Amino acid sequence: MTATDVTAETPIVAADEQIDTPALVVDEERLRRNLALMADLAKSHGVNLRPHAKTHKSPIIARMQLEQGAVGLTCAKLGEAEVFIREGGVRDILIAYPIVGEAKIARLLALMDEAQITVVVDSLEAAEALSRAMAAAGRTLDVYLEVNTGMNRAGVEPNDAVEIAHAISALPGLRLTGVMTFEGHAGSSPPESIADVAAAAGRTIVETAERIRAAGIPIAQVSVGSTPASWYTPATAGVTEMRPGTYVFFDNSIFRHGRIGPEQCAARVVATVVSRQAPDRAVIDAGSKTLALDPSRSHAGYGYIVGHPEAIIERLSEEHGMVTLPPGEPGFAVGDRVEIIPNHVCPAVNLMDELLIVQDGRVVDRWPVAARGKVR
Ligand SMILES: Cc1ncc(COP(=O)(O)O)c(C=O)c1O
Repeated sequence: MTATDVTAETPIVAADEQIDTPALVVDEERLRRNLALMADLAKSHGVNLRPHAKTHKSPIIARMQLEQGAVGLTCAKLGEAEVFIREGGVRDILIAYPIVGEAKIARLLALMDEAQITVVVDSLEAAEALSRAMAAAGRTLDVYLEVNTGMNRAGVEPNDAVEIAHAISALPGLRLTGVMTFEGHAGSSPPESIADVAAAAGRTIVETAERIRAAGIPIAQVSVGSTPASWYTPATAGVTEMRPGTYVFFDNSIFRHGRIGPEQCAARVVATVVSRQAPDRAVIDAGSKTLALDPSRSHAGYGYIVGHPEAIIERLSEEHGMVTLPPGEPGFAVGDRVEIIPNHVCPAVNLMDELLIVQDGRVVDRWPVAARGKVR
């Protein structure tokens, strides 16, 4: 697989289109192509698509995903689910995050009146608290057991899974319906090993599901996630569901894997050059409150400036982006505009009130980022 030529890409907004910056623009055609790409990939793997909505936080995009066959959504937080259910009419959501604390359980119970909710658990403490609340309310909550397949974040160790699955399935008010893993470590591994790392995660989660079934617990769902691993993990026989999120826009972190190029990156930060105090330094009006602080393994700096592969966004203050320029780099006079592919598009979206929707270089619509800031 050869890496894509990032230098060939051009801006998605027409040079004479008026935009007040900084802004997050989305090319609608690219977005639609990305949605179709992942819907087709899920079909070719024979698995359900349950996209993670934390990337776009937009009920409009959620509806597009459901129209293309997604079985429901994944959310990290109850606050996101509340928006997608109440503003987007979504009826099936997996909360892929531990629900801990009485305030959250009360909100969860309210949401269960409005939609089918499944919750991830990875501890007996959290499961017992959910069980007590469900039993008291006369409800049954579907849960997936989260298993660590190498990300070393949440998730029980595979060897402990059968024991904890037994304990959970004995609790009143809970129904253990699946196992899940987030194999995000595959995407951060070197490009040449992503397929092997993802496949290993796939084997581990499927084997774990089989051991749980062999112990007499009839779980149906085996859920995996992560955009960079989408070509690999869900191909494992026995996986039933995939949860990619970033694919709707893609970002600067995925170039290095070679499959995706900047021409598939649908979301761009548009920024204006606001200061030029040194020949090798331009300042743009996108700082950490626009681009977010995530590093990239694909391209140096805090984002890829389309058409300027040698210009590096070296430092960020809150509202200033300091760009180091090679000698004679054109396009960085005060007032010039640049388009940046964010390193990590999800936090960048979360910093914006709206997405400016672009067709053929023109802004044609504004979609609210309705679930922005919903971190509770
Ligand atoms: C639990 C879970 N599932 C799925 C995803 C989606 O992964 P990606 O952003 O690589 O598409 C994430 C991302 O953080 C996640 O945390």
